[in-house]
Amino acid sequence: MQFSPVSIRNTIVPVAARTRWAQTVNAPLVKALRHPWVESIVRLDAVEDALTALHPLLSLTEVRARVVRIVEETASTKTFVLQPNALWAGAQAGQFVRVQLEINGRRVERAYSLSSRPGARRIAFTTKRQQQGLVSSHLHTSVKVGDVLTISQALGEFVLPDALPAKLLLLSAGSGITPVISMLRDLKARNFQGDVVFLHVCRAPDDLIFAQPLQSLAADFPNVRLVLHYDTRADSFSPEGLAQQVPDLSERSTWMCGPAGFMDAISAYWDSEGLPAPLWSERFVGAPILPSTAPGTPVLVSCAGSGTTFTTQGTDPLLVQAERAGLSPKHGCRIGICRSCQCIKTSGTVENLQTGEVSSAPNELIRLCISTARSDVALSL
Ligand SMILES: Cc1cc2nc3c(=O)[nH]c(=O)nc-3n(C[C@H](O)[C@H](O)[C@H](O)COP(=O)(O)OP(=O)(O)OC[C@H]3O[C@@H](n4cnc5c(N)ncnc54)[C@H](O)[C@@H]3O)c2cc1C
Ligand code: FES
Repeated sequence: MQFSPVSIRNTIVPVAARTRWAQTVNAPLVKALRHPWVESIVRLDAVEDALTALHPLLSLTEVRARVVRIVEETASTKTFVLQPNALWAGAQAGQFVRVQLEINGRRVERAYSLSSRPGARRIAFTTKRQQQGLVSSHLHTSVKVGDVLTISQALGEFVLPDALPAKLLLLSAGSGITPVISMLRDLKARNFQGDVVFLHVCRAPDDLIFAQPLQSLAADFPNVRLVLHYDTRADSFSPEGLAQQVPDLSERSTWMCGPAGFMDAISAYWDSEGLPAPLWSERFVGAPILPSTAPGTPVLVSCAGSGTTFTTQGTDPLLVQAERAGLSPKHGCRIGICRSCQCIKTSGTVENLQTGEVSSAPNELIRLCISTARSDVALSL
């Protein structure tokens, strides 16, 4: 176990403003193309196909991005640097994108936090290859410079506020460094005058993702103290060790991302010590989806927005049921983290498949990917 504190001092980078002209131009065009009169003559997907044939980055509706560089960060981690098309609306530090790929004829999606600085011309995400992981393995072995990926707009609420607190702690372990290095880059770009500790836990120097950029940040950004903690198991990192390294922990608003065991231990410590500073966290893996406690009875789900109704046995999440019924609800992580699938349940009883909580409150926000219907349900979908 070893701590290597490194102090940092320096520079200012202005935040680039993102152009949104493409949305302004495209939205009315897409609306016009979706008008029933126009649709009877020309299909939007035919226009999309024609545009793609002209140039793979051209689209009226999808953010597409060309892979312009692939950086091997460690033996198991790569950064994909992308040049997005004009539909990209920018991101806040800490947000993620859904990356869509076709693998063996099946369309799959995974969430990846952006590791780049918000406002930068190019964006980047960084992927750790998971053993037998479908998408991370595909990204590592098959995606090359020049390929075009379809990505979502930036999503997620794990972000830095506009008004920053005076003291911050950015805390990460393993691949959880990806959203917090974006935050660190953002702080530097915003010329943050407060006091930042960036503490990262990984197994060994060879496993340190962003080793080079961290050294540059350490050299250039005056208000940051960088602490690297090497340990063979991130899960064994003790909150007491954290308190030793960061004695004013109770004064530091903290943003944390890492493996579940690491984050559970830190959260429990925060609660048990009653630390007053806020602790925000991002998880890459959701709590397990449990079987419904009372499935089997057919119930009716009505979706006010689309006018669709469908019957469910209350076994699968409402997101899956709605997709089977031909709807395409917005979604991101599909594991209850990102809130992209939130919609209002106007009436009826639902069960949260992660906590088992059953709720009948009217007009409540539910996450479709982790909720199942326990009675007839009306949704705003
Ligand atoms: C909001 C959000 C942001 C994310 N950002 C990043 C990121 O910046 N970089 C990154 O590498 N990943 C990130 N992830 C995780 C990523 O979305 C995928 O889950 C991961 O790449 C594995 O996908 P796969 O298809 O390779 O594995 P799958 O085929 O889906 O799963 C393979 C096995 O690995 C397990 N597994 C999946 N993810 C993890 C994990 N992160 N740690 C340990 N075991 C896991 C699964 O339980 C399964 O057993 C993020 C996830 C979320 C929800
Ligand atoms: S899709 Fe992310 S919370 Fe449901």
